[in-house]
Amino acid sequence: MKPAEKDIALKISSISASFDGFYALTDVSVEVERNTSRFFIGPNGAGKTTLLDIICAKTKPSAGTVAFFPKSGPMARLTGMKERQIASMGIGRKFQVPSVFASLTVFDNMLLSLKGHKGIWDSIFRPLSAHDEEKIEAGLERADLSDKKGSSAGSLAHGQKQRLEIAMLLVQEPELILLDEPTAGMGKRETEETGEMLAQIKKSCTVIAVEHDMDFIKQAADMVTVLHEGKVLVEGSVLEVLADKAVQAVYLGRGGDY
Ligand SMILES: Nc1ncnc2c1ncn2[C@@H]1O[C@H](COP(=O)(O)OP(=O)(O)OP(=O)(O)O)[C@@H](O)[C@H]1O
Ligand SMILES: [Mg+2]
Repeated sequence: MKPAEKDIALKISSISASFDGFYALTDVSVEVERNTSRFFIGPNGAGKTTLLDIICAKTKPSAGTVAFFPKSGPMARLTGMKERQIASMGIGRKFQVPSVFASLTVFDNMLLSLKGHKGIWDSIFRPLSAHDEEKIEAGLERADLSDKKGSSAGSLAHGQKQRLEIAMLLVQEPELILLDEPTAGMGKRETEETGEMLAQIKKSCTVIAVEHDMDFIKQAADMVTVLHEGKVLVEGSVLEVLADKAVQAVYLGRGGDY
């Protein structure tokens, strides 16, 4: 019997990226299954952020394609699209540094994100529908921020800001989210909570994350791709990847910070 075909949400094919002749990525191909989490790991400078930049069209690759397969509708070739077009297809990106509106409340940050391109005037002058309010409340609940909704976002702890930013992405109901080091600067408990949040998110969304924290990777990654000097070194489950001799050599060679 033929094995069931995997339901692929994103197909990265032979991507290379060069900056003035320096190859940050060389011939990277990865398929990401729908409603799973794919973690890209690897030493500093391996090309992880560059790959996220290419998926969301912040950076143009020198070769290769990225194809997105929405739950409904035809395949979309992301390479060649504009950043805005990609966002409107339901692909959300969280950058390494949290960017929330510090002087606005947590609730208003969510509201602005929900209104998205309709912008600030719409959110101020149009009454909030019960449906939108429910969506915001549900998002805050999932991020464990319900009791903070009236606080200014600037007063949140670093980890809470990171979770608020993820919640702001989710309220737009994306199909795919890209997270660059979502647990950077978080303590152990906050990191675990973020892992629990990801497990919930995956039910309705495909997750691509870049991460250094090995405990978080073990907790939250379904599949791992190790990048090293711009190339795919190995991919597999967390355990498979950690057992790999080449991966161990790369990490131990860097002072064993993993
Ligand atoms: N715009 C750019 N111009 C020139 N070089 C760049 C540019 N962006 C990235 N690079 C280089 O490409 C390589 C990969 O960088 P990238 O930021 O993708 O690494 P990373 O795996 O995300 O590393 P880290 O774990 O430190 O965040 C690095 O050597 C970096 O200096
Ligand atoms: Mg990076």
